[in-house]
Amino acid sequence: MPSSGNEWPDWPECTAETGELDPENIKIKKEIVALYGEAALRKSWLAVCERLKSLTDEIATKRTATIPELAYDDVFKLGDEEKQRLRDVGCFVVRGLVPEKVASDWFEDLNTYVEENKPTITGWPAEAPFLLRLYWSRTQMEARTHPRAMALHRELNEFWHDDDDAAKSFAEPLVYADACRIRPPGVPFRGLGPHIDAGSLARWADPDYRKVYEKIWTGNPDEYEPYDLTVRKNADPALFPGGAHSHVLRLWQGWTALTSADAHEGSLMLFPEVKTSIAYVLLRPFFKPPGNKDDILDAEKWTFDAEDPWFPGVWRDTSQELSPDAFPHLRLKECLVHIPKVNPGDTVWWHCDMCHAVEIEHSGNGFSSVAYVAATPTTKINSAYVKRQLEAFMSGSSPEDFPGGCNESALKGYPGSNTTILNGDIGRKAIGFAV
Ligand SMILES: [Fe+2]
Repeated sequence: MPSSGNEWPDWPECTAETGELDPENIKIKKEIVALYGEAALRKSWLAVCERLKSLTDEIATKRTATIPELAYDDVFKLGDEEKQRLRDVGCFVVRGLVPEKVASDWFEDLNTYVEENKPTITGWPAEAPFLLRLYWSRTQMEARTHPRAMALHRELNEFWHDDDDAAKSFAEPLVYADACRIRPPGVPFRGLGPHIDAGSLARWADPDYRKVYEKIWTGNPDEYEPYDLTVRKNADPALFPGGAHSHVLRLWQGWTALTSADAHEGSLMLFPEVKTSIAYVLLRPFFKPPGNKDDILDAEKWTFDAEDPWFPGVWRDTSQELSPDAFPHLRLKECLVHIPKVNPGDTVWWHCDMCHAVEIEHSGNGFSSVAYVAATPTTKINSAYVKRQLEAFMSGSSPEDFPGGCNESALKGYPGSNTTILNGDIGRKAIGFAV
């Protein structure tokens, strides 16, 4: 049953009292103020809060229906206008990457593999892991390098552009080996509330990452282009070490459903807008809310303040977190919406700057299972990581971004690192072999 706007899970609120108040943070704020000036930041703040009024009204009304759904083959036939609509929402469901039967077989294979190696495979939460530290199973390799997956990744990467690469060679997909999930029903999970991946404090602190958002800093948030790779390809989301930070830029985060999952069945929630919401998150640390709670949505009444070390929802070693009171103009309680029901073989995609969360409850009857498979472009930083990741593939060990997994080469039924599971040259290239 779709959620009404009134239910809100008991995720923790981000507060200054529980926040990271490192004095270094003030220096980072002041650097940005010195570069762009208070007036430009305030101009952007007012424009962004104003724009959010109509955006959040629309999302709060349409809710899940805001998220576009399209059939696999249709992704390749989109006109410019339809593509732009998908870019504007910043997330969508692509149905039928593979037939349901194929995906269900992938699930059975994975589930058997996990059952047969239960004592060895680790994951999160530690007491009853279902986010599994498993990277090289046959199912995951299939979901990543299946020819239809590779073609989709390439197409989705092409939604972006790079001024240094008009031919879009960056769109050649790479494999980013991520984990998988086999979540049983009936067990609440609070570990992944509203957050944005691809770094946290690095967005303000890393000069290249900060430059990605230059239009926002200079008072022109309308001109900010979230699909420009020109500067972003050099940004470092892992500037501050932390287990949650990916060294790789994923243009689209995503997963492939191995089972069906409806809303409230351990699935995903998205804030289906990216351009204005990320601008708001970036500007928010520079402004203090008015004392009177009734004025909270009046952007004019917020005070500029670069002396406060608090970046709401930011701990440098983990992803950017969000909560309704700390980010009031996002109206998260109404606008963080459940994705539509997915069936085995469907995929869901969201922009790397998009706020998302994992549902606390799983009130369905069966496992809710996905393989995390992102659309990963060929950039210098990504290629260097994939080269290192290839060694992990060859040895069956955990990739650099996901330490702590087991030695998969010792698992019963380990498919091996022979390249027959890579679906030919495109898959071989994507995992880092020269072809
Ligand atoms: Fe995430």
